[in-house]
Amino acid sequence: MFGDQQSGKRDDTGGREATAPRKYRARVVVVGNEKGGAGKSTMAALIAVSMLYRGQRVAVMDLDLRQQSLSRFFTNRRQWLPAASVEAPMPLEYKLVDRPASIADNQALACRLFDEALAMAMREADLVVIDTPGSDTALSRAAHLQADLVVTPMNDSFVDFDVIGHVDAVTTQLLQPSHYAETVLRARDLRSRHRRNLDWVVVRNRLAGADTKNAERITNALDSLGQEVGFRLAPPMRERVVYREMFPFGLTLADVSPRLRPGNVTAPKQAAREEVNAFLEALGLIVLRRAEPPTLRQDHPDEVYADAV
Ligand SMILES: Nc1ncnc2c1ncn2[C@@H]1O[C@H](COP(=O)(O)OP(=O)(O)OP(=O)(O)O)[C@@H](O)[C@H]1O
Ligand SMILES: [Mg+2]
Repeated sequence: MFGDQQSGKRDDTGGREATAPRKYRARVVVVGNEKGGAGKSTMAALIAVSMLYRGQRVAVMDLDLRQQSLSRFFTNRRQWLPAASVEAPMPLEYKLVDRPASIADNQALACRLFDEALAMAMREADLVVIDTPGSDTALSRAAHLQADLVVTPMNDSFVDFDVIGHVDAVTTQLLQPSHYAETVLRARDLRSRHRRNLDWVVVRNRLAGADTKNAERITNALDSLGQEVGFRLAPPMRERVVYREMFPFGLTLADVSPRLRPGNVTAPKQAAREEVNAFLEALGLIVLRRAEPPTLRQDHPDEVYADAV
């Protein structure tokens, strides 16, 4: 039931041994938004890989049964790393079945398999990162019910905003939360009955430089909606090539160093690294040591590495 497509077992290729008994309950992060193309899979991969480098035992689950972008990302990683003769940490990967698309139309079965897979992932990992499809499915709702943290990336546009909250056409004042917000709120309500919290963080993604008026309107609308439905806003992520160019290698910004950098990939700017750190900090996954100045790498003077805890 779990694992890579060939063996039907949980995939440990290159992964950490994760069998030691755990003192704390694993944290479940669900990356969700019913809007397609908002950056869910990109953020899920970035969170998972970043936290592996911080020594966490990370499990990943891709509940976008048809598209399987996150799974594809880690398949690429498994293939690229040995081909390039470099090592990098791998998460534990859980699949519901060998061919997830085959159960996309049987949501009841998918939900049951998800519950089983999640129970296993939570026994073996510190952090479970779950990617969801850009549409409302029973499986996605089941994942939101299990989330300690929901991360919702959205593009800086009222089209994306509309999936979370409806605004007045003339004043852009908030009218009411929309369907996806209701899903998260329902999950929060159900969890609270079992004394479990659900922290919801919205992150504006792919921010463009010259967009100040629209960005300001969206900020105001999100501030109102956040207060009404109870989400926090993470610092925005900019539109950057580095977030999209390394999918074929299964790498993220967190991987890139002088030791590990595929040919033709531009050296990530310090600002991009700081952006990722600020994002992870806003999610409550890391704590930054701000007192220490960033280290300038002598071997790559164009790259500056600010280490996070
Ligand atoms: N900050 C960013 N800068 C540049 N490109 C980005 C950024 N975030 C995401 N992308 C790109 O935007 C596209 C959509 O991202 P992604 O596939 O992660 O979205 P998604 O929400 O998972 O989509 P879907 O709902 O279809 O699963 C991809 O081409 C990805 O590489
Ligand atoms: Mg996706």
